[in-house]
Amino acid sequence: MKKWFAVIGDPIEHSKSPAMHNAWFQELSIDATYIPIRVPSENLESAVAGLKTLGASGWNVTIPHKTAIIPYLDELDELAEKMGAVNTVVRTKEGKLKGYNTDGVGFVRSLEDAVGKSHKDKPVLLIGAGGAARGVAFAMQQQGYTNLTIANRTVANAKVIVDEMGIGNAISLADAEESLADFGILVQMTSAGLATGNFSMPFSLEQLAEGAIVADIVYNPLMTPFLKAADEKGATVVTGLGMFVHQGAIAFEHWLDEYPNTNSMIAQLKVQLGGY
Ligand code: ATR
Repeated sequence: MKKWFAVIGDPIEHSKSPAMHNAWFQELSIDATYIPIRVPSENLESAVAGLKTLGASGWNVTIPHKTAIIPYLDELDELAEKMGAVNTVVRTKEGKLKGYNTDGVGFVRSLEDAVGKSHKDKPVLLIGAGGAARGVAFAMQQQGYTNLTIANRTVANAKVIVDEMGIGNAISLADAEESLADFGILVQMTSAGLATGNFSMPFSLEQLAEGAIVADIVYNPLMTPFLKAADEKGATVVTGLGMFVHQGAIAFEHWLDEYPNTNSMIAQLKVQLGGY
């Protein structure tokens, strides 16, 4: 029987996941389909029951359900449990629903695609302490990045993550700006201005170290003001597109035991997003 997958969220119409997964099914001759389903918060529980009854093999979960879905699942992967958020659900062979979070590891793959795996000892400055930042922080720690500092507008929020991880420092944005030259890798994960489309910089990159690697998890636009400023300072920039494609590829692998072609997908989406 044809397998089917979905992404649930609200809003959902702008998601690029259906086109990405359907293209991979076609490329790999897999008889499956992937559909977007808008699920308002009040319908989440019945939607999960419906997906289960109707035989979905798995699905992605996006805003606003990444945390709210947890009580309706049977099992959680260790990283998803630490993050307190799920972006991928797998129906196991036993028929149980297992939650994973592939966002953070997706980021690390994207970073390593761009710059290799030889930067694990560099001091990393993570900027932001929201849900996305939490995922990336835990995944970087798990993947061997040992020197992590989290900077945030509200330092107490960064302190919560740092304490849970048992590592590193929580500092203010002003402190980050002042000690910028100490960091070899920067990851921008705040939503500063995202909702209004009116991006603002969390702080100035004037003191950026030479040879720094600067990443942003936002991929639309590809070149955020933060990345543009980093590019002007001569940094190696990593856009958020690779993270989006790899989080999808890792989900795909959980469902189908196969890793799809991420390079050609990144190239295709880059064209759609206006290149850079
Ligand atoms: P997400 O799930 O996308 O990470 P979130 O949980 O709402 O979103 O987190 C938003 C992050 O962006 C937080 O780190 C937030 O800082 P606070 O913890 O101080 O709220 C940060 N952020 C949002 N708007 C910001 C702004 N104008 N300047 C700096 N940081 C901002």
